[in-house]
Amino acid sequence: MTTYKVGYIVGSLATASINRKLAKALIRLAPPDLEFVEVPIKDLPLYSYDYDADYPAEGRALKDALASVDAVLFVTPEYNRSIPGGLKNAIDWASRPPGQNSFTGKPSAVIGASPGKLGTALAQQSLRLVLGYCNSPQMTTPEAYIQTSPGVVTNDGEVTDVSTARFLQKFMAEFRMHIDRVLAHARPSESGHSERRQARHLAGTAGARNSRSRANR
Ligand code: FNR
Repeated sequence: MTTYKVGYIVGSLATASINRKLAKALIRLAPPDLEFVEVPIKDLPLYSYDYDADYPAEGRALKDALASVDAVLFVTPEYNRSIPGGLKNAIDWASRPPGQNSFTGKPSAVIGASPGKLGTALAQQSLRLVLGYCNSPQMTTPEAYIQTSPGVVTNDGEVTDVSTARFLQKFMAEFRMHIDRVLAHARPSESGHSERRQARHLAGTAGARNSRSRANR
């Protein structure tokens, strides 16, 4: 079985973050052939395209970290019904300079925890919109809106509730299969061309045809 390297991004910068605990839990419950490395975001300056010609060390480190992983797992809180500013800032850095978007073709999954009943549902919808634009093939199901109460996930990432643990384990198993599907499709075919690239070309042709027919309406 292929081993995949997963970069995980915790959307919270707080030291006592419940989402950081959730990330630890997900790592513990993941299939053994997934390796994890954190992609840190907290030292990034605020992004501006003034940096595009010469990224600072923090921006380069982020791009290098993302280039070194097969897939990205986002574990994020919901702030004011959206994703935290620090996470959006990191995605903006990663998506640039123009033509060097780190998320293109990189499989991803989204999950988050909050004490509230919605369990970060709206933040996840915001994040999915952003990742769609960034051309990251996202796992669509299962969705995982985790409502936590104190003690359900310990500081070390142990999940004390059996049904929650089972669900998180299934989520990670599905993520592994998603990574496999996306990357298998991207592997070079016998003709030496990436099937993914061919698929994109066909999609582009269809897109151009559609916009032409729309214009003719
Ligand atoms: C929150 N919180 C929150 N919760 C929620 O379910 N929906 C929301 O829109 C918000 N908005 C929000 C804004 C800001 C600025 C803060 C600091 C908090 C509460 C949030 O879920 C709670 O603080 C979690 O502990 C945040 O996750 P981390 O940072 O501990 O991982």
